Amino acid sequence: MEKLSLDQLLLMVKDMPVLPESIHQILRLTEDPDSTVQDIEREILKDQSLASKVLRLANSAYYGYPRKIGTISEATILLGFQAIRSLTLASSVNKLLIQELPGYGLKKYELWRQSQSCAIVSRMIARKIKFKNPELAYVAGLLHDIGKVILNHYVAKRYQEIMEKVKNENKSFLEAEREILGFDHSQVGAKLAEKWNFPPELVEAIAYHHVPENASILPVLVSIVHIADVIVMFMGIGMGADGMAYLVSDFALQTLQIDEVQLQQWISEAADLLSDSRSFDI
Ligand SMILES: [Fe+2]
Repeated sequence: MEKLSLDQLLLMVKDMPVLPESIHQILRLTEDPDSTVQDIEREILKDQSLASKVLRLANSAYYGYPRKIGTISEATILLGFQAIRSLTLASSVNKLLIQELPGYGLKKYELWRQSQSCAIVSRMIARKIKFKNPELAYVAGLLHDIGKVILNHYVAKRYQEIMEKVKNENKSFLEAEREILGFDHSQVGAKLAEKWNFPPELVEAIAYHHVPENASILPVLVSIVHIADVIVMFMGIGMGADGMAYLVSDFALQTLQIDEVQLQQWISEAADLLSDSRSFDI
């Protein structure tokens, strides 16, 4: 069987769901410093399920606000534009992440759980190293494996060949994906992020989450997602078929200025954070 060509890949991405215009509008507004809270409220109210998530988050124990938050504009002020942005994106991609992906040995909800965990740990790391936009780290962590949703069908068809390469030739699942299919899930995910008009640093974080040394726009963001992905893998969350094949990048450790001891520390802090189910509300 032939490998996929770039044209076939682009066709696959073309068939992928588009984000609703209201989501794009919220993403634009939350990036624009001249937007008002009322502008954002108006857009959020067009999406009932998003509106209820915003209110639920604003009233969650995490924010510990003493009074009940009843309107979207109050919630927007409390949460901040960046948190609204990541919530909007998360709510729009959740449906894609929830599905079962037999090609990757992932049951229903496993990719979602893994992606949410990576997002939460990415934000934890971002705060620790005082990265300027922890919510961007959250979104990058959430979307890093989105390409698996598209590639799943093709991986499933050629699963035996991929696994044989992994076993007999000592390749990583990622290398086997690329050699057998012509593309791996990080390249496909980056194409989808481009299609969705995501900012270049987010496209880059998806493209290079397994090879952070290839980053040129914002290597810190790529390194955060890489280390968060490794931490989540170490913890065995939603491991699937390709789980153990990842190595920690020295480049990422250096970029974040941490050593193995620090990494161990982060792993145990991440374990605490992820064992608290409230972490998954945000
Ligand atoms: Fe990945």
